[in-house]
Amino acid sequence: MTSALDIAKAAEIIRSGGLVAIPTETVYGLGADALNPQAVARVFEVKQRPRFDPLIVHVADTEAAAALTVDFPATAQKLAAAFWPGPLTLVLPKRDAVPDIVTSGLPTVALRVPDHEVTQALLREAQVPIAAPSANPFGRLSPTTAEHVRELLGESVDDILDGGPCRVGVESTVVEVDDDCLRLLRPGGVTIEQLEAVVGTGKVMIPADDAHPSAAAQQSPGRLPHHYAPRTPLSLTPPAAETSVGKRVGLLCLRPPEDQSPYVVIEALSPEEDLTAAAAEFFAALRRLDATGLDLIVALPFPEHGLGIALNDRLRRAETRQ
Ligand code: TXA
Ligand code: MG
Repeated sequence: MTSALDIAKAAEIIRSGGLVAIPTETVYGLGADALNPQAVARVFEVKQRPRFDPLIVHVADTEAAAALTVDFPATAQKLAAAFWPGPLTLVLPKRDAVPDIVTSGLPTVALRVPDHEVTQALLREAQVPIAAPSANPFGRLSPTTAEHVRELLGESVDDILDGGPCRVGVESTVVEVDDDCLRLLRPGGVTIEQLEAVVGTGKVMIPADDAHPSAAAQQSPGRLPHHYAPRTPLSLTPPAAETSVGKRVGLLCLRPPEDQSPYVVIEALSPEEDLTAAAAEFFAALRRLDATGLDLIVALPFPEHGLGIALNDRLRRAETRQ
């Protein structure tokens, strides 16, 4: 799928300030040399992302991550040992070498070691850290295949590395380390249960962002209430029968419901109720529904545990406000 030559070419593009779409286990990223402010500025432009929303920096291993921070506390080391390479992002105090444009002026940098052989090879070949937000225009659905990236960003990227469909399918979990506690800034591919197994029960603090959306958005701008949205209106509650007459309504769910009559199309992510399988298909299924010319997408919330927490978070942000 991707040859050594493709990797060498992509590494050269990164090193010379270009943009490369990269596969990761979570979603595809729009990558640039994290130490080159002009290259990073292009990422913000292409994504139409507000400059106040900082980027995640991808590195090959824990050592490369530690080289970008002034402090890598014991709790962070434990987490890195347990989950890297993998879908966990650690927010740590940054070194001056990390340009302010990457962190939106914050004194911290978000770091992660992706678990994908293509991007691992690219990081080793390019020999620079790669800043990469998800490779979608700001606020839209995240891409989980190279084809999605082509549809979303097409000509505006210099290269797209095809690493096949993303295995996890939902973005990384973002945590800030505070002594022996963690603040969960974004639920994602590493579950709260998995984090607690490493740092201890009750040590993961969850900001109540629904009560204070603006405060949460300041802590981690990706927690803006409206995010990850399809173009079709999306609701978490099925409409009353009388209001949906004559409307084309689609359904996103784990298991097909007994009454399927209100829906012209149903995307059932895992009839076996396997949340890992559901996450892997989540964005692709939403994208298919969005392309079906529906009047409304109804999404039934997932069980609120494991990866269901990250999926429900994305659904709440995608829900259309009346
Ligand atoms: O799985 C992922 O994390 C994917 C792949 C490509 O690695 N990337 C991704 O990036 O989802 P993005 O830009 O869509 O989301 C980055 C999140 C945002 O919520 C951002 O606000 C937060 O990380 N973030 C970045 N730097 C931060 C910092 N210094 N402090 C707090 N939050 C930060
Ligand atoms: Mg994103």
